[in-house]
Amino acid sequence: MTHLKTDRPTRLFRSTRLRRPAPGRPDGEGPPARSARVPAPTPAPAPFPDPAAIPAPDPAGTRAARRRDRRVYTRSHPVLFALLAAARRRPVVRLGSTVLVHGTEAYRETLTQVPLDRTAAGTTGGAARQLSGAGTLFDQDGTGHRQARRSVAGDLGATGTERLRPAWRAVLDRRLAPLAAGRPVDLAEVVRELAGTTVRALLALEPATDPHALSEAAARAAATAVRDHLPGPRRPGTARAAATAAARLEALLTAGDGDPDPSRTAGDASLRAMLAVAAVSTTVAALPRAAAWCADAGLWEQAADEALRPALVTELLRVTAASPLLPRVAAADATAAGCPVRAGDRLLLVARHAARAHSDPPDARHPAPPSVAQLVFGAGPHACPGARVARAQLDDLLAALAPYRPVVVRARVDRAAALPGWRTLVVRATAGEVR
Ligand code: HEM
Repeated sequence: MTHLKTDRPTRLFRSTRLRRPAPGRPDGEGPPARSARVPAPTPAPAPFPDPAAIPAPDPAGTRAARRRDRRVYTRSHPVLFALLAAARRRPVVRLGSTVLVHGTEAYRETLTQVPLDRTAAGTTGGAARQLSGAGTLFDQDGTGHRQARRSVAGDLGATGTERLRPAWRAVLDRRLAPLAAGRPVDLAEVVRELAGTTVRALLALEPATDPHALSEAAARAAATAVRDHLPGPRRPGTARAAATAAARLEALLTAGDGDPDPSRTAGDASLRAMLAVAAVSTTVAALPRAAAWCADAGLWEQAADEALRPALVTELLRVTAASPLLPRVAAADATAAGCPVRAGDRLLLVARHAARAHSDPPDARHPAPPSVAQLVFGAGPHACPGARVARAQLDDLLAALAPYRPVVVRARVDRAAALPGWRTLVVRATAGEVR
């Protein structure tokens, strides 16, 4: 069946490493290819009013949304959540050799100006390297990092996102269909499949690769790696569990990789594994939390509106701050918001507070400035290359759900996940084509 493989569109490390960025576009980005677009898998649009008539978010709904969303923190990491909340009044707080960074400017300054040790134990880079070997972007610096970023820019940029889109839209189309019949749908389960399907397309794995298995393996690898580097005591056997999970993911990626590029290096394999982990762990945390917030706060009218939806997406990603805490280590003496930082200091960068997720509720009509909202994706040379994909996925999820104005009927926190999120999030339609 080799002819099938040659027909398959080229993907990460098959053709992109040969692709040159377009002149004047160092990241290889360009406008989305119109021909690549497919119609949204949404049912018939519901009769929402025009944007000017859409009411502001109801404060009671906002409180309900915040109350539910807070459970993902309090059920998974209650002590850490309480400590960070108690310390957030000052932009930077030193506790011994640990520096907590909460302020918007302090967070940005630390990520862009403080030299960071990308491979130190207890950091994302250190964990990534332990998980899948060197060359994972998170653990890189300088020229090697820039080259690796260029190799993923095309696949995660505007054109790459439009190429991936049909894969996740097909999942939404199929998995949300029961809502029209009045049946409940577990959005956490849907998003796990969506994430696995997206990674399968991104890495050009064989179509037979099971998206659920891929998603579970990547999520488990992320969870065990994170457990190994979160502040606090480690349970016995954590390192062994992390190694087993990484091996399981690697086996799936190898088995699904029927036609590997012969010029691929060990670093490329590490990067592919880390892309799977980064994409799955964030998507399965972010999308269900954003949908639950939308439902609880009664924001479906904003979600249904084509003009408001992009701002709502950005706002929901800001308040849910899927990657709420970035553990880093200073590589040299520096200052953050005037606070001296010494080489070797442990830095806990609280994205949730920097992006004002705890204080400013989402409102698509009065969104936070992009410079603040963007902070949930980091800042500087390591800022998340998957942000565009994440926004497009949430945009499509909200567009597909909005006509049904779903409500949450059951939610269970995933206490074992790498990032705070829902293991189960069952919703039921209250409008649309319910029959
Ligand atoms: C809502 C979803 C997401 C959030 C909140 C998020 C957040 C982040 C954050 C905070 C960082 C660290 C940035 C820094 O150190 O300055 C990061 C890095 C990264 N993200 Fe995401 N991410 C998301 C989705 C994705 C997706 C879908 C992918 C892949 C398809 C991805 C791939 C990566 C990679 C590879 C890095 C490492 C970049 C580097 O070190 O150069 N992320 N992300």
